[in-house]
Amino acid sequence: MGSQWGHDKVYQKAKSEGYRSRAAYKLQEIQRRFHVIRSSDNVVDLGAAPGSWLQVVRTLTDGRVLGIDLSPVPPIAGVETIAGDLADTAVQEQVKTLLGVVNVIICDAAPRLSGHKSYDQARAIALGEEALRFACNTLKPGGNFVVKSFQGTDFSEFYSATKRHFHSVKTCVTQATRKGSTELYIIGKNFVG
Ligand SMILES: C[S@@+](CC[C@H](N)C(=O)[O-])C[C@H]1O[C@@H](n2cnc3c(N)ncnc32)[C@H](O)[C@@H]1O
Repeated sequence: MGSQWGHDKVYQKAKSEGYRSRAAYKLQEIQRRFHVIRSSDNVVDLGAAPGSWLQVVRTLTDGRVLGIDLSPVPPIAGVETIAGDLADTAVQEQVKTLLGVVNVIICDAAPRLSGHKSYDQARAIALGEEALRFACNTLKPGGNFVVKSFQGTDFSEFYSATKRHFHSVKTCVTQATRKGSTELYIIGKNFVG
């Protein structure tokens, strides 16, 4: 912290602009830089609670917007939600049945931290891999994918795995990410199918 994105300032900004969390600014920056969501896309948000990414997505597309989280997401007009585990294939099938076409998957999911660095890193990478499996199982060819990840053990293998499924893959550290964090986002565009 201590940057322009220090907790109080960004938290207050998010609050005054009606966002449920500062994470809204991360997705806004990703969209500004990478244009992942088009105006008619159906978008699925994995790890969506409390819902600030869903609030942003709702303003970017006229398509369907669906959020999935282990925790309930308080209602947002024009947004559908499923309470469930993103790794559950039954949830993935439910998404395909509900939406038919999925153009974009975004994932800001993060496991609850234990404080043991290597254990937390392994679980975070494993969750990203589940999100990639979700995307491969549901995305339309040509679709886009955004997933939160963390630099460290096994990151490069996960990055390479993403590269096998998308024609273009880049990474992005957002300005709203806290200083000193290893958090970054992988942006996969144009799903191979
Ligand atoms: C950082 S928060 C997401 C914030 C959200 N992008 C927003 O803008 O409000 C991470 C979320 O991931 C969810 N999560 C973690 N593991 C999950 C899983 N296996 N399936 C679904 N959601 C999960 C947590 O419940 C938590 O709400």
